[in-house]
Amino acid sequence: MRRKIIIDTDPGQDDAVAILLALASPEEIDVLGITAVAGNVPLPLTQRNARIICELAGHTHIPVFAGCDAPLERRLVTAEHVHGKTGLDGPQLPDPTMPLQDQHGVDFIIETLRREPSGSVTLCPLGPLTNIATALTRAPDIAPRIQEIVLMGGAYFEVGNITPAAEFNIYVDPQAAEIVFKSGVPLTVMPLDLTHKALTTAERVETFRKMGTHVGQMVAEWTDFFERFDKEKYGSEGAPLHDPCVIAYLIRPDLFKGRFVNVEIETQSELTLGMTVADWWGVTNRPANATFMGDVDASGFFQLLTERIARL
Ligand code: RIB
Ligand code: CA
Repeated sequence: MRRKIIIDTDPGQDDAVAILLALASPEEIDVLGITAVAGNVPLPLTQRNARIICELAGHTHIPVFAGCDAPLERRLVTAEHVHGKTGLDGPQLPDPTMPLQDQHGVDFIIETLRREPSGSVTLCPLGPLTNIATALTRAPDIAPRIQEIVLMGGAYFEVGNITPAAEFNIYVDPQAAEIVFKSGVPLTVMPLDLTHKALTTAERVETFRKMGTHVGQMVAEWTDFFERFDKEKYGSEGAPLHDPCVIAYLIRPDLFKGRFVNVEIETQSELTLGMTVADWWGVTNRPANATFMGDVDASGFFQLLTERIARL
């Protein structure tokens, strides 16, 4: 059964690979639209990058919208140190020619959920949750109409990548994350616990380079650039492809394993702001609200990714 999805994103090299995977999988996924949010880099760049990625994939018919340019309450924190100044550093890319939609991304999310049959649209946030939280606050009636929110964000066993306690997407807008995690919408979370097991090792990057396609070459150059941060910091053998895990889950959920647990967001303490406090061991009686993923079949994931990216 094809999933109708909206991708909410802050490209970001790993967001780019996630979007390409979705666009390369029309049997399983129908991308209704892409809404950009401020995150890795400011909104003018994330909305531009989203259009560059659609053009690279030859899918200029996908409507791309600009959403919120700052978190609900906090000052925007970006991650140029990871993604470079443009957010898509690595290869040289042409300016986009496809237009940005006039409609605000949040209005597109609300309107789409009200128009499509209830329970038929999945939201796939790959960045800070500002757009999703704003839509839920502005139009509470959409919450029961959302089939599922499958997001990349958070960390428990792996702890933080932007502070000792918090993962970037949640840290940038913890108030937004709290709204989403308390919304009652079916929630599937791809935290660092999981994405750090999907590493772009050297031979996997070579697979993209050897594909002989322009898209494969771009993905190889993006991962070459993107991985230097994680290799330096974690001493890992490659960069974690965080965001593509969200899309891979829609295609092959069997590649992923997790637990349905309570997850709450730290929004008060400066020390642990943005921490996803997952009751993995069930030591409280707080109601479970999220399927928190902990394991992925990494070779199965990369096999799927390379097979699909090779189609573009
Ligand atoms: O912490 C990783 C997340 O932050 C990924 O979504 C990456 O693109 C950045 O947005
Ligand atoms: Ca992202």
